[in-house]
Amino acid sequence: MLNVIRKRRSVRAYLRREVEERKLKEVLKAAMCAPTSWGTRAWEFVVVSDPEAKKALSTSTAHARFVRNAPLVVVICYNIKTGRRFREDSSIAAEHIHLEAVNQGLASCFVQVADAGEPPGSAEPFVKKLLGIPEEFRVQCMMPLGYAVKGPGEHTDDEFDPGKIHYERF
Ligand SMILES: Cc1cc2nc3c(=O)[nH]c(=O)nc-3n(C[C@H](O)[C@H](O)[C@H](O)COP(=O)(O)O)c2cc1C
Repeated sequence: MLNVIRKRRSVRAYLRREVEERKLKEVLKAAMCAPTSWGTRAWEFVVVSDPEAKKALSTSTAHARFVRNAPLVVVICYNIKTGRRFREDSSIAAEHIHLEAVNQGLASCFVQVADAGEPPGSAEPFVKKLLGIPEEFRVQCMMPLGYAVKGPGEHTDDEFDPGKIHYERF
């Protein structure tokens, strides 16, 4: 497991290579194994492959420009009428997506939507309107999926910082 965790990096450049349906399904299965507050499983996932829609998504924030070049983008949204902790649940599902993507030989990056955009907060209504996401849903982030142009460096044990760990009391 730590092997996959070390390989997980934020990748922002993707090959022009389709993501196999089988791999996408494994990634989405991983998302739906994520823990949720009160077991509500209030997330839903919009898989976007349409070039025009991806282009529009890439304009939603200044930090989403590269999204247009990913073969697929998974937008994570969350029904606030049935769920309770949209940021936490969506973000954990995003990490499951990211890790299973790496496990499948793919790459991804957490791209913030909630509170993002210029002016701040503009990205979420823009994405909701673009993708027809219902009013009662929030959007936390989107996860582009694709094959990395170049394998990024892995995380290493050098990043392990014992100084950040406190036993019993801070
Ligand atoms: C909550 C959160 C929001 C992020 N938002 C963006 C984003 O909007 N655009 C982007 O390119 N990367 C975004 N990232 C990725 C971070 O920049 C990245 O995880 C960090 O630089 C560490 O690099 P690594 O993921 O390769 O370990 C986000 C990451 C997190 C956890």
